[in-house]
Amino acid sequence: MEVKIFETKEQMGIYAADIIENVMKSKEYPVLGLATGDTPITTYNELIKRYKNGEISFKNVKTYNLDEYVGLPKNDKNSYYTFMHEHLFDKVDIDSENIHIPDGNPADIEKFCREYDREIDDAGGIDIQFLGIGRNGHIGFNEPSDKFTEGTYKVKLTESTIEANKRFFEKESDVPKYAVTMGIKNIMKAREIILMAYGFNKAEAVKNMIEGPVSPSCPASILQNHPNVHVILDKDASSLLKK
Ligand code: F6R
Repeated sequence: MEVKIFETKEQMGIYAADIIENVMKSKEYPVLGLATGDTPITTYNELIKRYKNGEISFKNVKTYNLDEYVGLPKNDKNSYYTFMHEHLFDKVDIDSENIHIPDGNPADIEKFCREYDREIDDAGGIDIQFLGIGRNGHIGFNEPSDKFTEGTYKVKLTESTIEANKRFFEKESDVPKYAVTMGIKNIMKAREIILMAYGFNKAEAVKNMIEGPVSPSCPASILQNHPNVHVILDKDASSLLKK
């Protein structure tokens, strides 16, 4: 794991955008794995800026998002579909056919999950996967558990995740209880990974991810076994690390 520590979220976003830009320029048809939440926003802003300056294009880019809430209409203001369009897709030249976000309301969820896995494989696999981390060490919506997960699946969100995400909803009871998420095996198949975290409230999860044992009780700790991970932190998120 390469660990880099920065002063500001903007610097973190610039560094992550540099890595993503490199991947975008090194392949004719790059495949990006994307995340939602607060963490990727400065990176997406930087990518939009570079697109507007004519430095990068998303014309040949395919994207696969990590996760989506189950049960929210696609156009709900809190769906990850809406988030991605507002924070990135509507502001760059991506072809809508190349955007893939898990369907939170499929008729047959099991069938949908197998198709999502197959589509990622058919696209050639993910070249670079962006990850945030939950306060409980989750990546995607892979919550702490007694085993590492495999392909895309429907997951019951933990109280900690519902608590953390209630800030976007009017009341806690409005937060969906389930999500569809890529599994740990999908994430580990990505050729390169960025994991970004900022703020004191992520420090313990970051410490467990980097210094703890590889254990499904901290799903992000599996990244210790991946050959090409960039961990991008601010001082607060890195504050519990030994060195
Ligand atoms: C989002 C996702 C989650 C978030 C994590 C951190 O697509 O998969 O794992 O990355 O919950 O969320 P923020 O960035 O809001 O702190």
